[in-house]
Amino acid sequence: MKQKELDILFDSLTDREKLAEMTQLISSLLTGREDKVTTGGSLEGSLSRADLDSAGTTLNCLGAAEVRRVQEEHLAANPHKIPLLFMADVIHGYRTIFPIPLAMGCSFDCEAARESAEIAARECSASGVQLTFSPMADLVRDPRWGRVMESTGEDPFLNGKMAAAMVRGYQGEEYEKTGVIEPGHVAACIKHFAAYGASEAGRDYNTVDLSEGVLREYYLPAYQAAIRAGVCMAMTSFNTVDRVPATVNRPLLRGILREENGFDGVVITDYSALYETIAHGVCADKREAAKRALEAGVDIEMMSTCILEHGEELMRENPELRKAVDESVRRILALKNALGLFENPYRDADEAREKELHLCTEHRAAARRIAGESIVLLKNEGNVLPLRPGKKIGVAGPFANSHAVLGSWACTGDGGVSLVEGLRERYPEAEIRTAMEEELGSLFDGVTDVADQIEEACERLADCDVILAAVGENQNDTGECSSKTDLRLTRNQRRMVDRLCGLGKPVVLIVFSGRPLEIRDQAEQCQAVVQAWFLGTESGTALADVLTGEVNPSGRLSMSFPQTVGQIPVYYNHANTGRPRQTNRQEERFITRFVDCPNEPLYPFGYGLSYTQVSYHDLRVECEKDGWRVRVRVRSDSGPACVETVQLYVRDCAASCVRPVQELRGFCRVKLEPGEEREVSFAMTKEDLAFWNGSAFTAEPGDFLVMAGGSSDRVLTASLTLS
Ligand code: GLC
Repeated sequence: MKQKELDILFDSLTDREKLAEMTQLISSLLTGREDKVTTGGSLEGSLSRADLDSAGTTLNCLGAAEVRRVQEEHLAANPHKIPLLFMADVIHGYRTIFPIPLAMGCSFDCEAARESAEIAARECSASGVQLTFSPMADLVRDPRWGRVMESTGEDPFLNGKMAAAMVRGYQGEEYEKTGVIEPGHVAACIKHFAAYGASEAGRDYNTVDLSEGVLREYYLPAYQAAIRAGVCMAMTSFNTVDRVPATVNRPLLRGILREENGFDGVVITDYSALYETIAHGVCADKREAAKRALEAGVDIEMMSTCILEHGEELMRENPELRKAVDESVRRILALKNALGLFENPYRDADEAREKELHLCTEHRAAARRIAGESIVLLKNEGNVLPLRPGKKIGVAGPFANSHAVLGSWACTGDGGVSLVEGLRERYPEAEIRTAMEEELGSLFDGVTDVADQIEEACERLADCDVILAAVGENQNDTGECSSKTDLRLTRNQRRMVDRLCGLGKPVVLIVFSGRPLEIRDQAEQCQAVVQAWFLGTESGTALADVLTGEVNPSGRLSMSFPQTVGQIPVYYNHANTGRPRQTNRQEERFITRFVDCPNEPLYPFGYGLSYTQVSYHDLRVECEKDGWRVRVRVRSDSGPACVETVQLYVRDCAASCVRPVQELRGFCRVKLEPGEEREVSFAMTKEDLAFWNGSAFTAEPGDFLVMAGGSSDRVLTASLTLS
């Protein structure tokens, strides 16, 4: 629709219709043909039929047939024939499910992130979805928080690269140039703005309290990268930022998001988050919530009706608020126009396309490949992996034959290939024995006494050549509102691993989880450890590819694994403190330490093994016109062809405020043939050395360390001086 036509449409709207356009309700509220709809909680009060017919957007209405039906009904009822915009949580795949984002982050493969988003867009758009509430770009440091699974991890640089890649995958590469979301693509939404991942104690929806410098250096960069990639929408977070809920936080939304970062897209609240500002104790009632949201620049209120109920009086009383409403409605209409909804309100919703695309061979192959890249080999003593053909393999534990491996936020996915199914496909002739594979039974609840079943399992697997202990957490205990204070495996799983290790056979611990679990004891007992996350549809086949050596593991941790929950938060880009450990002398007492646990994590950011021994050499920093060129040589010393993720870190040795001991400033995946040596180089500029000095990002003169290697804790070091 041309701008002039949009203006005419806009001018024809009543105040109430404008406010309805700013209100997002689930489709079951819209399609119920009652004259009045009253619901409790955030929607208390009543919505008139006219309001429902003028609602602007809806969420989580899925399926081509259903979306077409709802849209058709809505267009028939809407006085101006304005189409609904259909939004949904397509987080790591729609029907073909990819690894959870935390696992995707371990691939360090931005092209994989883009590709998985593009496939998700292709599948969900065929089912009528026009915008996805993804990517979630919240930086995470606390595995007690169940939503760490939705993030790509603890590093701002990696999160930014991944978020931008996913935005381009969802929206299509053309959008930034044309402003049109091409068919087969969907609009994207960056969330949760801002710093939801810093909820205190990892308890969901809890207070966030950060210094401005930490907010700006760690938590904001990934959202900013998504904005630079052209993301169409931003979602406000449930939490407070500097004691004001993000949803009514004008400095955050109008200040940082719009004015500083130039975001001109649509701002939507999270689910009833505006109504919840009353519970926060910041708004006295829904009227004040509506006023504060309009002042802060909220465009769409999800699943509460403060703006709808009180907007008209506010518009009458205050021209500034009228102006705010008009700006919001114009943004929403512009977004619908970018999606071509006025010309084709159904966009790609097509039942035949659904059948053709969902779980098609091409998509499953991509899911398998990307899942393989997301697996992290954490230990491999005596090269017990890869498994040798012809060996008798025992597989024990609740994930031995489980299909519940998609992870949380798995949209319409309904089960992944199990570990045993994957192994049997890879090794049809192998003898694979399973034990204790009940999925959600006693091994998970940790209460039922399973001593007898464990003994039976041991007898059954005693003569196997190698035993795979397939353990972890229930996927339903991850994701939103799934915070935990105990990150260990359940007692029954720990007992099972302990007894299996007592058989004197190699035990491979395979951990299925949506977060770093506390696996220190089991990792010590077992010869090998594989972090399997929740890998999606092709979980079992991807694991079999890696366990049998068909795929050489290349994943590197996107989030540190704590030794114990008492150590949290533990992350690689930490400050040095005034009393760091200087030596390994135990008698060092008055230093920053625990008396009962090392400072270091069990496994650090960037860490991961492969079946190949790789070494780094000859790190050099050369001055160039616009900065520096960092060069390092990486060599395959033994083992099969591999993909090595070369990581570049910097450290500002002395600055006007404390700087982290390491900051990731580059990474690249390098394929190495056996014995091959290659040079990898990174361009660095002053911007890579900048930090928030209280009023701006700037790089201060002085000495810097430059580090490169295959993990944050295994680097070569050089230096540079910024004059
Ligand atoms: C949820 C989540 C958000 C999601 C929204 C819509 O509460 O916080 O990530 O997009 O509601 O389902």
